[in-house]
Amino acid sequence: MRPTTGFAPANGSSPYTTARKNYRIVECSGSRINGHIMRQRQHVSLEMISLEKKDLDWGNLGFAYQPTDYSYVCNYKNGAWEEGGLTTDHSVVLSECSGVLHYAQEVFEGLKAYTTENGDIVCFRPDLNASRMQDSAKRLIMPPFPEDKFVDAVKQVVKANAAWVPPFGSGATLYVRPVMFATGIVIGVSPADEYQFRILVTPVGPYYSGGVRPVKVRIPDYDRAAPHGTGNIKAGLNYAMSLLPGTIAHEQGYADNMYLDPQTRTYVEEAGGANFLFVEKDGTLVVPKSFTDSILPSITRRSLVTVARDMLGMKVVERPVKFDEVRNGDFVECGMCGTAAVISPVGEIDNGDEKIVMASGMEETGPVMHKLRNTLTDIQSGKIQGPDGWVVKIC
Ligand code: PLP
Ligand code: COI
Repeated sequence: MRPTTGFAPANGSSPYTTARKNYRIVECSGSRINGHIMRQRQHVSLEMISLEKKDLDWGNLGFAYQPTDYSYVCNYKNGAWEEGGLTTDHSVVLSECSGVLHYAQEVFEGLKAYTTENGDIVCFRPDLNASRMQDSAKRLIMPPFPEDKFVDAVKQVVKANAAWVPPFGSGATLYVRPVMFATGIVIGVSPADEYQFRILVTPVGPYYSGGVRPVKVRIPDYDRAAPHGTGNIKAGLNYAMSLLPGTIAHEQGYADNMYLDPQTRTYVEEAGGANFLFVEKDGTLVVPKSFTDSILPSITRRSLVTVARDMLGMKVVERPVKFDEVRNGDFVECGMCGTAAVISPVGEIDNGDEKIVMASGMEETGPVMHKLRNTLTDIQSGKIQGPDGWVVKIC
């Protein structure tokens, strides 16, 4: 049966529809922020949400944007966050003098919603995304978005887009992208006084095109973050820095870059969109630590450390990792981990003409990365029980 878009009719008799009451829909089509023209909000009570899945080729989705039915929006003005709610408008109208356009006051997050084996829609540790977004906002002098409001907003927007959450077993997920930016007018270099927080959702497949196949990375000539700069927060400005080396890497057939520490360029830091993990010959999991505080504290990596230590009984060491150790073959496996990447095995690391092939090679995922990936995805999809509070049921 072809899916419907939007809502089922109020008298809908479809077995796929379920009554959901009391959603707040914020209609802000064509509205302007910055206090100029702001169309009155209409609060609409949403009676029915279609749960009938959209007609997508779920198994072949890339990591690309596809507008869905709803986004969430909430504005900050006069020193406070408004109530916020769902919107069907996926555009933003800004003053040409908005702070985000000139001084890059923007931070974002990334998490995913999954369909579990029993058909529930869940997300993974949204409280950690909420608190990391607060840390990011504070670093850029932006008003932190309240953590409980963040988690509630994630639940609202995922529930409203239930038809876009890929089915269990498809290999795809619903990517949830909260973003916050300065809408207020700023001409001298200073923080703005008005902001917008939004969440868009979009169904996605694997981030690295290898998926679960090993990929190659390279050492770039550029750094992604300054020592003691903003590398440890999730701000768009870090990703702007990585666009040129990222594009060069892709043009040369690499999945991503392996950035070295920006101070001495001798220690491994992270990739453009993921943290690195290594496995020593004796099976110890080694997690690179930054002495210049320029690695993003990945929620996936922190979760994998717990999984490895507490569920798989592995030895885990978090320490600075010299690139020389990689070069000398001290590690048998390498992987990149993150929400988008999950765990992508790395088979080869190139530094100019120097080629370092991991013992696990380019053909197969090494056994440790394989086990970690399966355990994590089994927790996320409800196949096995993870630590309390990790998997949050949405509907
Ligand atoms: N490092 C960078 C630079 C990232 O963009 C991401 C993605 O969010 C990660 C690491 C992984 O973080 P997380 O596991 O919280 O998604
Ligand atoms: C994520 O994993 O959620 C990210 O934000 C990485 C991004 C580069 C797609």
